[in-house]
Amino acid sequence: MMKHLQIFLLLCGVVWVPILLTYSYNTQSREGSIGDIAPNFTWNVNSSRDLAIYVEPENTTAVITNENLCSSNSADHRQKPLLLIVVCSAVGNVKARDAIRKTWMSVGPNETAPFDVRTVFLLGQTVNDTKQSDVLLESNTHRDIIQEGFIDAYLNLTLKSVMMLKWVKTYCPQVTFVLKTDDDMFINVRTLTEYLSQSDVQVRKDLIVGSLFCRVSPIKDAGSKWYSPLFMYDAKVYPDYVSGTGYVISGPLVPILFENALHVPLFHLEDVYTTGIVAKRANVIPENSHLFSFVKHPTTNPCLYRKIITSHGLNPSELKSVWQQINDPRLNCTSVRLPKIGDPKFKKCHKTARLTVRRSGRRGFSG
Ligand SMILES: *[C@@H]1O[C@H](CO)[C@@H](O)[C@H](O)[C@H]1NC(C)=O
Ligand SMILES: *[C@@H]1O[C@H](CO)[C@@H](O)[C@H](O)[C@H]1NC(C)=O
Ligand SMILES: *[C@@H]1O[C@H](CO)[C@@H](O)[C@H](O)[C@H]1NC(C)=O
Ligand SMILES: *[C@@H]1O[C@H](CO)[C@@H](O)[C@H](O)[C@H]1NC(C)=O
Ligand SMILES: *[C@@H]1O[C@H](CO)[C@@H](O)[C@H](O)[C@H]1NC(C)=O
Ligand SMILES: *[C@@H]1O[C@H](CO)[C@@H](O)[C@H](O)[C@H]1NC(C)=O
Ligand SMILES: *[C@@H]1O[C@H](CO)[C@@H](O)[C@H](O)[C@H]1NC(C)=O
Repeated sequence: MMKHLQIFLLLCGVVWVPILLTYSYNTQSREGSIGDIAPNFTWNVNSSRDLAIYVEPENTTAVITNENLCSSNSADHRQKPLLLIVVCSAVGNVKARDAIRKTWMSVGPNETAPFDVRTVFLLGQTVNDTKQSDVLLESNTHRDIIQEGFIDAYLNLTLKSVMMLKWVKTYCPQVTFVLKTDDDMFINVRTLTEYLSQSDVQVRKDLIVGSLFCRVSPIKDAGSKWYSPLFMYDAKVYPDYVSGTGYVISGPLVPILFENALHVPLFHLEDVYTTGIVAKRANVIPENSHLFSFVKHPTTNPCLYRKIITSHGLNPSELKSVWQQINDPRLNCTSVRLPKIGDPKFKKCHKTARLTVRRSGRRGFSG
């Protein structure tokens, strides 16, 4: 009898441990994120959600096109970048962009060699002429800005992502992978390049990978930054999706997602929309990599930052501090024991585990 009980408990453990692990990796609270203010929800039942109206697929909508970003020769004249990093940024976030330029964006071609990586900031428009002329100046100085033709606002983040697809489809169709990320992110370009250049990854034409969420329920609290009223989405759960803080899409998937987006009513949460709803319509299943994180890794652990691909929610001074630490030649990580990062075996959402997890933290717009 006792024996049976033991076996029973053991089996329970075997069944529950993976489920609980999966759960804990994806339920880390986003509630506490600093600076998360719910926007005033300006969508209403009468707003048009036909993206084609805003995106104008046949027309050039970009104010700053930067059309040579991908084709222009780098030092070694390669024409087919492995990776294009698109940092979604708000017009006013100049300090965040400068910090990125001085830190993880400054990895030279030598450090990602033999792979070609390009990075660009994607902005929307502002109605303030002073701010607009500042954007033009910044763009002339750094040549790393795309500005698309829509009003930059938190509730327009989906539009920003679809504009990203439009721009890549038009001006960078030859790219192998695109990383969509935000301006409060640390990106380890070297580990990301290593990951994407693995032979089994590099051939993938249908990859969407990041920090994966399974069966997330829409939030009904109007005070939440992730509020989703029934008229915007009326099913119980979202399609599985990856966090908008950082996800990689195969280049060949970009025009496919773009075409599909034109036939799916706009939904305001960018990651749910692009990597969940639209991806599902395109029959693409998003995947998890434990090296992508929608939470902030401790900025006092540079050895960890040398290993991971993304970390979320770093302000400009934290970015600079981490960057300085990981590039310190005296830093020796050989004997450092790192904390466990996610579950390397968790790759896809499983149909059997019935879980309700919360949405990820994100803050692509804060201006
Ligand atoms: C929302 O609207 C109220 C009243 O119009 C305003 O006081 C508040 O600042 C707005 N909040 C945001 C985040 O824009
Ligand atoms: C939506 O449009 C209908 C019909 O024009 C109108 O009666 C209703 O007040 C509108 N609702 C909102 C929230 O604007
Ligand atoms: C493209 O631009 C033209 C000229 O401004 C305009 O008439 C047309 O409606 C635009 N197309 C779309 C799909 O908005
Ligand atoms: C890249 O490496 C080459 C050869 O080692 C060197 O001459 C060049 O200065 C390096 N470039 C950068 C930007 O570090
Ligand atoms: C436009 O932006 C400038 C600089 O950021 C600011 O000083 C000014 O108050 C803004 N004007 C309006 C009308 O919001
Ligand atoms: C989003 O962009 C569109 C097109 O520029 C604009 O009409 C709309 O007001 C913007 N939405 C918000 C919430 O600012
Ligand atoms: C790093 O540390 C390990 C063990 O602590 C040591 O064996 C190794 O020589 C060190 N490497 C450097 C470059 O200092």
